[in-house]
Amino acid sequence: MSIENKFKLLQEKDLQAELGGGEDRINKQHAAGRKTARERLIDLLDPNTFSEIDKFVTHRTTDFEMDKQKFLGDGVVTGYGKIDGRLVYVFAQDFTVFGGSLSRANADKIVKIMDLAMKMGAPVIGLNDSGGARIQEGVESLGGYADIFYRNVMSSGVIPQISAILGPCAGGAVYSPAITDFIMMVKDTSYMFVTGPDVIKTVTHEEVTKDELGGAMTHNSKSGVAHLMAENDEQAMMMLRELMSFLPSNNMEDPPVKVCTDNIHREDDKLDTIVPDDPNKPYDMHEIISKVVDDHHFFEIQPYYAKNIIVGFARLGGKPVGIVANQPAVLAGVLDIDSSTKAARFVRFCDAFNIPLITFEDVPGFLPGTTQEFGGIIKHGAKLLYAFAEATVPKLTVITRKAYGGAYDVMSSKHIGADMNFAYPTAEIAVMGPEGAVNIIYKNKLNEEERKKAIEDYRLTFASPYKAAALGYIDEIIYPRQTRVKLIQALEMTQTKSKLNPPKKHGNIPL
Ligand code: HXC
Repeated sequence: MSIENKFKLLQEKDLQAELGGGEDRINKQHAAGRKTARERLIDLLDPNTFSEIDKFVTHRTTDFEMDKQKFLGDGVVTGYGKIDGRLVYVFAQDFTVFGGSLSRANADKIVKIMDLAMKMGAPVIGLNDSGGARIQEGVESLGGYADIFYRNVMSSGVIPQISAILGPCAGGAVYSPAITDFIMMVKDTSYMFVTGPDVIKTVTHEEVTKDELGGAMTHNSKSGVAHLMAENDEQAMMMLRELMSFLPSNNMEDPPVKVCTDNIHREDDKLDTIVPDDPNKPYDMHEIISKVVDDHHFFEIQPYYAKNIIVGFARLGGKPVGIVANQPAVLAGVLDIDSSTKAARFVRFCDAFNIPLITFEDVPGFLPGTTQEFGGIIKHGAKLLYAFAEATVPKLTVITRKAYGGAYDVMSSKHIGADMNFAYPTAEIAVMGPEGAVNIIYKNKLNEEERKKAIEDYRLTFASPYKAAALGYIDEIIYPRQTRVKLIQALEMTQTKSKLNPPKKHGNIPL
């Protein structure tokens, strides 16, 4: 064969591989409102940075006449590229080839890039769109899944792992995304479940649609399985790019600093009036966060789930920070099972990847009730306590109003290792609210007049930040308008923090 023909052969094979399952199946994918694996990678990565690996891999199955059906690439596009100039490894399941199902060969491709990512210390982003295990391959496919799961676990806390669910993701296949750090889902076109509606109908006689069971909103608002939701594939890729901008490439690096164009000395008088006079009146903690962070920009994680706590990324003086904030506008900002686990996972992510933690606190305590107690609020609340206590990244806390009971200790208090604890003059730091305290201390011994006075006395003596400040539990009482300046100063001061927990195989977080 002449060199010219050899080049032509390569060109033909390239084109064939790039066509995946063929034009008809690509059209079907588009008609379903989904992009192809390659189109998604173009949206995700910096232009012209994608290098494909294993483009010509095919499956090796002969059962079910599979030897007559081979597609170059075998249902997954893998390789590496850049996001904002930084290396990332990617795999994108190609639904146009055997429904993106996982064959042994297809799993080997994913495993290869996962191994490279660990060696080079770079994140892995998986774009999932798959009918699950390649049915024609049986246990070989299951082995492939397990090889991926194992690497997901080994990579956890070493390199960021991000999953986008852009079509079906069912059965045991859900457990790879579940182990990764963040799951993004797309409205109307993606779903995740362990068993689908048909099996559920047979086993439990429940009738439920695919979307109700495992659609993007279900997992973003009800189950808490997903962390982000996009309107469509394109927006999903943009959001993934933005998420990556806050994360280091691996656990040995610091997160990427951006040039800060927002005045680091900026004071905002409006902050002085956000916390209402009446301690029982709600306000939106988002307002405080957005007024404090660079360019008022907050990238919220799990905005639809357990809204009584807010978590997400922002920058202060150009440096990425993880924000955890009670939300007094929802359930008075109380800590319950869902909000505790949501925040605990976020705190552990930030700690694993050297992202300082900023806590805004206004919490009346843990939610009372049998549902919470029977559901295990004790062990779930303990997760948040554990996560904050074991975190060795810089930890800064601002108490805006209530810091009551055990929740005071849990929410990154001085006692569990916070580096700087600020309080607004409106802060109330005590075992419980004045009404509850007076009811217990005096039981039924007071008339209405005396009761009112006792409540006021208690409020003046204990429901303030001054007792805690006198004990050194609060480092500084600040005017709310100074919050940005104070946090940026403290962040700079803690930049060289070096703290190691005692050596151990691993702790035993109450799961
Ligand atoms: C092989 C598959 C496949 C699979 C889909 N296809 N899933 N091929 N193995 N798992 C093929 C179809 O035969 C079809 O091929 C093409 O992909 C597109 O599928 P359609 O059914 O036409 O698409 P759609 O109507 O959109 O339905 C998508 C689907 C459905 C809901 C995903 O295909 C489906 O139910 N597939 C089976 C899902 C499943 O049970 N998987 C195993 C789960 S258990 P043609 O040639 O017609 O285009 C599992 C265990 C993992 O995954 C365990 C890990 C521990």
